[in-house]
Amino acid sequence: MLTPLDRLTYTARQGARVAWYMGHYFASQRYHKVRDSDDVRREKPKGKTPGMDGMLADMARLFERDMANVGKGIYPMPRDGDGGLAGLISTSRKYFSDLPVSAERKAERRGKEVYTPELKDELPAYFLQNFHYQTGGYLTEESAGLYDMQVEVLFSGTANAMRRQCLVPLADFMAGRDQRKIKLADIACGTGRFLRFVKQSWPRIDAAGVDLSQAYLDEAARHVRPYSKVRFEQANAEELPFDDASLDVVSSIYLFHEIPPKVRRTVAGEFARVLKPGGRLIFMDSLQRGDAENYDGLLDMFPINFHEPYYASYTKEDLGALFAEAGLKPVQSEPVFLSKLVVCDKPG
Ligand SMILES: C[S@@+](CC[C@H](N)C(=O)[O-])C[C@H]1O[C@@H](n2cnc3c(N)ncnc32)[C@H](O)[C@@H]1O
Repeated sequence: MLTPLDRLTYTARQGARVAWYMGHYFASQRYHKVRDSDDVRREKPKGKTPGMDGMLADMARLFERDMANVGKGIYPMPRDGDGGLAGLISTSRKYFSDLPVSAERKAERRGKEVYTPELKDELPAYFLQNFHYQTGGYLTEESAGLYDMQVEVLFSGTANAMRRQCLVPLADFMAGRDQRKIKLADIACGTGRFLRFVKQSWPRIDAAGVDLSQAYLDEAARHVRPYSKVRFEQANAEELPFDDASLDVVSSIYLFHEIPPKVRRTVAGEFARVLKPGGRLIFMDSLQRGDAENYDGLLDMFPINFHEPYYASYTKEDLGALFAEAGLKPVQSEPVFLSKLVVCDKPG
């Protein structure tokens, strides 16, 4: 049960986050409007869009749901780990000094700046792109330092609240189990936001983060520093560094929209291979077409405003069928504001 003070604390913290990141969003939009090329300005969504009131109402529902989970004891009062005031201001300054550079890249549609034939020998070509027109792609320390700010700006401060909804099927799985005996891996863990939430709830779980980007893994290691029993490994999700049937839980958040359809199938096969019978996949990515009334128009605009070459195919992907083909049994699929949560169990 939440006390009135708990509710006040939650509302003040999350309200401040929304104000901060939404403020950055509107400032960036104004900037992009000036810089965008004519062809981007002419683009209009084909599907319906929710409008500001609709978005704010759905955002409020997400936070209600997040706070209700805290009230039910599913996870503790969120600690977003954004850093102190000095850290926030410093990241904000870096964000605004990068904005003209990334806006220029967008105006000129330069989405493959980070590709070089040498890197192609080590990393897949689909990965060597400037997703979101971000400076450095996924390859540099500076990009890793700005990523969380950029994602929260894009989602107006709701990204962590959406990620936390993955803790609900995890709590369901953990019920009656000894956390010290559970092995979990977060695939494409990025800067470790989700792993930190996992550790806040189950500090003794044996956790691993896998990502192709060493710079992002370094940032993730910094982010989960207060916790033990968490390790990181640079590896491709297409060839996971785990034995067959060795993990209880696999999670993966916001990966599938950035990989080609064929690779999605290979990665789903890897999820199924490394899970123990009876193990659970907890998956989150963008909303898909038809998932939420009035949101298809936003899905139309996303790959126009951000370099996202695989996004349109992702929004039409039948995830239930894809995971079932890999040998997993879908048990839950639902929209979570701008994301979609899918849970699958490995028959055991
Ligand atoms: C949009 S980010 C998502 C990061 C994080 N899961 C989150 O919640 O923000 C996509 C991540 O996938 C990683 N990635 C892309 N392709 C990959 C692959 N084939 N294997 C492992 N990681 C990959 C990128 O380095 C990046 O960190």
